[in-house]
Amino acid sequence: MIRVLFVCLGNICRSPMAEAVFRHQVKELHVEDRIEADSAGTGDWHLCKPPHEGTRKLLDEYGISYEGIRARQVLLDDYSNFDYIVCMDSSNERDVRAVFGSKSDGNAKVFKFMDLLPDHESDDVPDPYYTGNFEQVYELIDQGCRNLLARIMEAHHA
Ligand code: 4NP
Repeated sequence: MIRVLFVCLGNICRSPMAEAVFRHQVKELHVEDRIEADSAGTGDWHLCKPPHEGTRKLLDEYGISYEGIRARQVLLDDYSNFDYIVCMDSSNERDVRAVFGSKSDGNAKVFKFMDLLPDHESDDVPDPYYTGNFEQVYELIDQGCRNLLARIMEAHHA
């Protein structure tokens, strides 16, 4: 099984959206027996909560399931349990590497989501918790997840 973890700050807006969208794409390609996704936050404010209303509304509009998704915090063990750890912004990457400690220094399995979208200049997926713009985030997440899935299929012949 190939395991992907999406990480943001609160685990209620961006990373659960990425988890749901990526899972949806994985199912469309019928590779759900090979590729799994999860998400987590570096903060602990929203533990066990479902995704933010803005994320839910948008996923409903696109007919994408978020069933069973509940906020949790990043764990030390996530480093060994996942093959790809995709951080929604630069501060999430810094914080997650701090949780994992020096074993994650320079390890390429931890990277930024925007690295999947080389045509975009920004390093960060903007946080809709502050901007209110969930649609803009969905566009980035949809394309980035497609690129990630293609990359995984190529790397693992999944
Ligand atoms: P997320 O957005 O990291 O995309 O889930 C946030 C959600 C909650 C908070 C910050 C960002 N918060 O400060 O509670």
